[in-house]
Amino acid sequence: MADKQVFQDRMLSLGLARVSEAAAIASAKWIGRGDEKAADQAAVNAMREQLNLLDIKGVVVIGEGERDEAPMLYIGEEVGSGDGPGVDIALDPLEGTTLTAKDMPNALTVIAMAPRGTMLHAPDVYMDKLAIGPGYPVDTVTMDMSPKERVEALAKAKGCSTEQITVCVLERPRHEDMIAELRGTGCALRLITDGDVAGVMHTAEAEKTGIDMYMGSGGAPEGVLGAAALKCMGGQMYGRLTFRNDDERGRASKAGITDFDKIYTRDELVTDDVIFAATGVTDGSIVSGARRDGDFMETETILMRSRTGSVRRIQYRQNNN
Ligand code: FBP
Repeated sequence: MADKQVFQDRMLSLGLARVSEAAAIASAKWIGRGDEKAADQAAVNAMREQLNLLDIKGVVVIGEGERDEAPMLYIGEEVGSGDGPGVDIALDPLEGTTLTAKDMPNALTVIAMAPRGTMLHAPDVYMDKLAIGPGYPVDTVTMDMSPKERVEALAKAKGCSTEQITVCVLERPRHEDMIAELRGTGCALRLITDGDVAGVMHTAEAEKTGIDMYMGSGGAPEGVLGAAALKCMGGQMYGRLTFRNDDERGRASKAGITDFDKIYTRDELVTDDVIFAATGVTDGSIVSGARRDGDFMETETILMRSRTGSVRRIQYRQNNN
């Protein structure tokens, strides 16, 4: 189980920021170049190299895929120098490969770290997600409510009309009915083409991002990363794995999941203290994108710890000659 004494979250957090900065700088060269794979590979290489410099005994629990699918940062890969605390690592070296390739907003490099055995080993299937920001009573919105009921409940808790609520949803054919039902409430919709870790994070800074609630299905690994972020920023989140076939159920069993219908709360997706870093690749509402300034590359990283609720934004400048 988790060994809190040895999880030096305060000491490790700056190292985590370095990992996500390096991935953003590497993938930034591929912004707008139409090559998702190259952008992702650049981020993976840089993230792995930096991770291996950290004094941790890390295991990738959310990564680039299963061992036979991903040569690097695969699930189960041991990372770090091998000296230091045993930790779980959840990462998405480039969250929004298409956003990067097309130079669209909110592509991020993302990594979270927590004591060993404290993050859900989410298989690569979809997860139904629901998230709202901090300041609302527990279970203000729930997975059992319909989309309409969620908007009404949130509007009531916020003390506003449903027209003043904005919901973020991935624009996908599978969400057509949900989008139609949401439209019926009069709420506004922020339809995103990709990047639901950012979508979930947006709810935690509703004043700044204009998004009150996130809902819909996206990648389960991204669900664990979203929960890690909200655990630091505040806010509520729920997730339920969904399966399209027996192969996907098999992946879940292999990952140790026995209850296929379980609704996970934020604190069941990530059960202990966690540190989280995300660096902007393209410009977004949470952080600015990586950019070149003469001979320098500049990045902005959000670095957070759940134990203290501390949220830092770090500007980094690196001579790129
Ligand atoms: P990539 O960065 O791997 O391209 O994933 C982006 C993403 O939009 C995630 O944010 C989201 O969870 C998932 O893909 C949605 O999957 P799908 O495109 O199959 O609907």
